[in-house]
Amino acid sequence: MQETRIVLRNVGKYNPASVGEFRALGGYSGLQKALSLDPAAIIEEMKASGLRGRGGAAFPTGTKWSFVYGTEADQKYIVCNADEGEPATNKDRVIMAGDPHSLIEGMAIAGYAVGASEGYIYLRFEYPYIMPVLENAINDARSAGFLGEHIFGSDFSFDIKVVSGGGAYVCGEETALLESIEGKRGEPRYKPPYPGVSGLYGKPTVINNVETLVNVPAIVNNGASWYRSFGVENCSGTKVFTLSGNLINRGVYEFPKGINLRDLIFEVGGGCANGRKLLGVQTGGGSGSIINGDMLDISMDVESCEAAGATFGAGDIMVFDDSNDLLEIVENLMEFFTHESCGKCTPCREGNYRLLQIIRKIRKGNGTMADLDTLQELSETMMDCSLCGLGQASPTPIVSTLKNFRNVYVEAIERGRK
Ligand SMILES: Cc1cc2nc3c(=O)[nH]c(=O)nc-3n(C[C@H](O)[C@H](O)[C@H](O)COP(=O)(O)O)c2cc1C
Ligand code: SF4
Repeated sequence: MQETRIVLRNVGKYNPASVGEFRALGGYSGLQKALSLDPAAIIEEMKASGLRGRGGAAFPTGTKWSFVYGTEADQKYIVCNADEGEPATNKDRVIMAGDPHSLIEGMAIAGYAVGASEGYIYLRFEYPYIMPVLENAINDARSAGFLGEHIFGSDFSFDIKVVSGGGAYVCGEETALLESIEGKRGEPRYKPPYPGVSGLYGKPTVINNVETLVNVPAIVNNGASWYRSFGVENCSGTKVFTLSGNLINRGVYEFPKGINLRDLIFEVGGGCANGRKLLGVQTGGGSGSIINGDMLDISMDVESCEAAGATFGAGDIMVFDDSNDLLEIVENLMEFFTHESCGKCTPCREGNYRLLQIIRKIRKGNGTMADLDTLQELSETMMDCSLCGLGQASPTPIVSTLKNFRNVYVEAIERGRK
């Protein structure tokens, strides 16, 4: 299947160490055009394009920017979330390593639109090799006049710093990320106030994912209706999907939203390797739903995934085959969440550990049918009562497998009784 490359438009087409090559591809023309427009008009164009965040929550980007635009402050910030800690997500590193200048351009346009003069890229600790790529690109952009004072001879000034994360999954959550940049312990804040009103150092802040920001110059250059011609009604544009697990063609691919999940797995991914049969698929990363092989005819957009009991998230698709032990996969995921819970709130701090204990008990052959009710009830409590998205989403693999693979739990319990 032919990819549609909006986000990956420049990846592989220029040397990231050459700002000249990027410029020759039309790079920074979106920024140049933006600077000739009224900031409010750019925000309206973002709203009209239907661009939604690609970090997982799919919040409308133009609306987010309008909060920051509408809040009076002596300083505002643009923060790029490049933490990419969700298990099975590998798209942002491909974008940043191959096309750092489009990210810089997108951040500068965002800065101009909302009135921010400083930007931060919060880079995943495990991506140290991307740090020099970004820093060199920022230095080159500054030397060429695309960052710094009076960009393109205008009154607009904007600069970017890169900050390394510390290896904590929770620091991908936007307010924990802000705490981390401020040099504090990476724990989520209570919301409201939201970052658009009180973000980095208490100032109005736009936080957007890498992929979200790289869409921005393309929208400024080509217009909202062009962008809306890709994807489906409420979910415009493309998505960079990460295909992993037992697939012949694992990798990162860009397609219009609304592509069928079955096509992604079998036509793009090539199906399971080694002649194995597909057992299940986890969509939306480690905290996403695990669905079975009868559920694959899903249009890959946020609302259709939700209606079908799948997760869209950051577009991750991990395929398990019939040699995989599903309960072992669930145990691994719960170990991860137990380890990564920051401990600030009780439902998540205690709940993940308790869920893990029960899964281990069932795997060891000591489980009872009553344990399945406890798993369900505790999961629902955590989803309702946890402070941030980590504890709200971490029970999803359990809830979805209890629904879609109940026989696997029942068989493990019955085996233990013999
Ligand atoms: C535990 C947790 C981890 C997250 N990790 C990331 C991440 O690595 N990258 C990201 O862009 N968003 C992540 N998010 C979502 C962010 O909180 C936020 O919604 C996003 O950065 C907003 O950008 P967007 O509107 O462009 O998607 C995470 C959320 C939670 C709860
Ligand atoms: S849900 Fe978990 S990660 Fe989030 S604040 Fe509570 S303890 Fe911390």
